[in-house]
Amino acid sequence: MITFNEKTNLFKLDTPSVSYVMVLADGKYLGQVYFGKRLENAAADLSYLLRIDEPPFTPSVNLREKVSFLDSFPMEYAFGGTGDFRESCIGVITESGQEGLELTYRSHRIYPGKDKLCGLPATWGGQAETLEITLEDAPTGVQTILSYSVFADSDAIMRSVRVKNNGTGAVYIDRVLSACLDIEDADFEVLSLHGSWARERHMQRLPLGIGSYVTESVRGESSHQDHPFLALLTPSCTQESGEVYAMNFVYSGNFLAKAQHTQHDRVRMVMGVHPDYFRWKLEAGESFQAPEAVLVYSDRGLGGMTRTFHDLYRNHLIRSPYKDIRRPVLINNWEATYFDFDTDKLLAIAKEASALGIEMLVMDDGWFGHRNGDNSSLGDWTVNEEKIKGGLKTLVDGVKSFGMKFGIWMEPEMISPDSELYRAHPDWALRLNGREPSLCREQLVLDFSRPEVLDYVYGQISAVLRSADISYVKWDMNRQLTDPGSSYLPADRQGEASHRHTLGVYALQERLLTEFPDLLLENCSGGGARFDAGMLYYSPQIWCSDDMDAVERLQIQEGTALIYPLSAMGAHVCCSPNHTVGRETPIDMRAAVALAGTFGYELDVTTLSEEEKERIPAQIARYKKYAPLIQGGDYYRIASYRETHTYDCYEIVSKDRSEAVVFFIQVLNEPNRRSRKIRLQGLDGQAVYDVGGKRYTGEALMYAGYILPRPWGDFQPVILELHREK
Ligand code: DGJ
Repeated sequence: MITFNEKTNLFKLDTPSVSYVMVLADGKYLGQVYFGKRLENAAADLSYLLRIDEPPFTPSVNLREKVSFLDSFPMEYAFGGTGDFRESCIGVITESGQEGLELTYRSHRIYPGKDKLCGLPATWGGQAETLEITLEDAPTGVQTILSYSVFADSDAIMRSVRVKNNGTGAVYIDRVLSACLDIEDADFEVLSLHGSWARERHMQRLPLGIGSYVTESVRGESSHQDHPFLALLTPSCTQESGEVYAMNFVYSGNFLAKAQHTQHDRVRMVMGVHPDYFRWKLEAGESFQAPEAVLVYSDRGLGGMTRTFHDLYRNHLIRSPYKDIRRPVLINNWEATYFDFDTDKLLAIAKEASALGIEMLVMDDGWFGHRNGDNSSLGDWTVNEEKIKGGLKTLVDGVKSFGMKFGIWMEPEMISPDSELYRAHPDWALRLNGREPSLCREQLVLDFSRPEVLDYVYGQISAVLRSADISYVKWDMNRQLTDPGSSYLPADRQGEASHRHTLGVYALQERLLTEFPDLLLENCSGGGARFDAGMLYYSPQIWCSDDMDAVERLQIQEGTALIYPLSAMGAHVCCSPNHTVGRETPIDMRAAVALAGTFGYELDVTTLSEEEKERIPAQIARYKKYAPLIQGGDYYRIASYRETHTYDCYEIVSKDRSEAVVFFIQVLNEPNRRSRKIRLQGLDGQAVYDVGGKRYTGEALMYAGYILPRPWGDFQPVILELHREK
C-alpha cells in the first residue's frame, strides 16, 4: 500500500513486513527517512528524522549554509554540483557544457498496477501499486520521475527513474543511477559477489570503513568478476537473524554499485548503469528510462533476504511458461565432444541418453558455417552440412525418434572476422575510429545500435528455429564488450553504444519469445557472466558457470542462490575427472549438487562406465520427485563449505511446510569426528516429520537438531527427505 499524508508531507510505502518512508522538507527537498520493519501507524510523523531542526537547518531558514544542508540531507535521489559532495545519482550536461542540478519536488501520483519499462526487463503482474514522484531542476528543465512499486505479496521495493528533458535545448545524461539509499547508521558490513570465469559469484563480506566500497562492471555484461548486487549487513547478521539492506539490478550490462560511509556516519548506497562508457543525448521533450533496481530489507537475516528475492523473481520477474513447469532433463554435447561432432555422434549420444531417461539433446557450439574451433563463422547461422549430414531437420527428427526433444546453441551478438557476414559488413562490428577492434576468443561484437543488424540477426536465428522442431535455445555471449564505437551513430551519440547493445539483446530476445512463445530459452555468457535479473525476465534459467566440478559448484551455487531461485540455475552433471579442475568425484556427488538447479548432463554417455550409467535413472527419478520443491519451495542455507571447508548443507521446504529435502555434501571426510548434528529451518514446529523412517517433531529438528548418518570418504552426499505426518 502507498500513501501520501498531506499534513506531514510524508510518502509511505508498505509491504507485508516492510515500510519505506520519504518526507518533503520545505515542500521542496525529498528526503529519505526510513526503510525497515513495517510501521503500522499511518499517522506517524517521521519528519524529525530529517534533522532539519538542527544546524545547518534548511535553506529557507539558513540560506548562508545551503551547501552544508545539501551535503548532509538524506537525499532520496542525490544530485551533485550544487552542494552535495557525496555520491550523486544523476549528472546532466547542458548544451552550454555545464553540469550541476538541484532537483526539487514538483508533483506526484499514485496509481494501481505497475507500468512496463519501455524496452527493459522489469518486475510485473500481481496486485501492484506505484508511486511516481517528479522532481525538477528549474533552470535546465531536467526532470527525474522517480518510480516506486510494491506488490501485495512481496517485501521488495521496486525502483526506477525516468529522466525527461523539459527544457528547450538538448542535454546529455552522463550518469543516471536507479536507486539510492541514505541510511543513518554506519556500523555495517558489505556483502557482494565476485569471481572470474569458472569461479562466478563467490561471496565476499567485509567491514565497511569510512570511504567507499564499489562493485562494478564495465565489461558490457553483468560479468564473471562482479555482480549487480550489494548488501549492507549489521555485523552480527547470520542466516537467521540480523538486518540486511540489499540492492539487485534488473539489468545485464555495465553497472555501478557503491556504498559510501560519509562524514556524519551515514551510508549512502547507490546502484545503476555504470557512468563510464555512457552518455545519452536527450533532445528537448525526450525521455530516458533507466533500468529497475530491487531493494530488499530483511530483519530475518540473509535467509529472509534470499527468500524475498526468490519469491519476487519467481512470481514477478520470470515470464516463461516454463516458470512453474518441470524442465526437461537435458544432455548437452559441449564437454562430450567440443567442436568434434557430426550427426552420427549426436544420434549415438541421444540414443544412449534416451535409454537412461534423459529427455532432450542440446547441440552446442560448432554446427554452423565452417566452425570447427572457436575462430570462425559467428554470424553465419547456416547449418554445416558436412557435420550435420542431411541438414538440421534430419538430425532433429532422428533425436525425436528416440522420444527426445531437441535444443540448439547460438551466439547471436557476435561476429567472427572469418565469416561471410564480416566479409560483407565489416562496419557491422563495434569499433573505434582509426583502430582495429580488440579480439577476444577471436571474435568481435556486432553493433546492436544498427537496426539492420538486429533485423539480420533475427532473420538468421528465427530461420533456424523455423527449419526444425526446436524446443530450446542456449543463447551464449563469449566475450566482453570493447571498442564501444558505432559507425551508425552520430558523434554526439557514440556514448550510447554500450547501453544500446544491452537494449538490442533485450529487443531480440523479446522478438524471439513473441514468435516462439513455447521456446525454453537458457541464457549463458561464457559460463555465468550474464546471470542476472535482467536475463531472467527473458529466460527462466541461466547457465551458472562453465565449472561443473561438484566441489567448485558449491560456492558458485551458494552465491547465485543468495539472490536467484534454484529453478534458474543451469546445473549439469559433468564427467570425471572434471575438465576445469581435473578433480575426480563420484557421479552421485555430481548429481546431488546439480539437483539444486535445472539438472542435466554434460558428458559422453556412450563412453560412460556401466557402473556410472546405472546410477543415472535413479538420479533422474530423484530430480523428478524433487522438482516441485526445487521450483517452488523455500530455500534455507544451513552450512557453507566456504566457511566449514569440509561440508555444505542446504534445505528446501515446501510452502505449506509438509515436505522438505536436505542436501548435505561431505566434501572431505575428517578423522575421529562424531556424527554431525545440523539444525534445520523453516519447518512446522508442532508437526511430526518422518525422516528416513524415524519420527521427529519440527521443533526438535529446528532447535535441537538432527544427527546425520556419517558418510564414509570424501565427496559423499547425503540427501534427507522429510514428510510431515498427516
Ligand atoms: C561457453 C558456454 O558456457 C559453454 O557451455 C559452451 O556453450 C561454450 N561457450 C561454447 O562455445
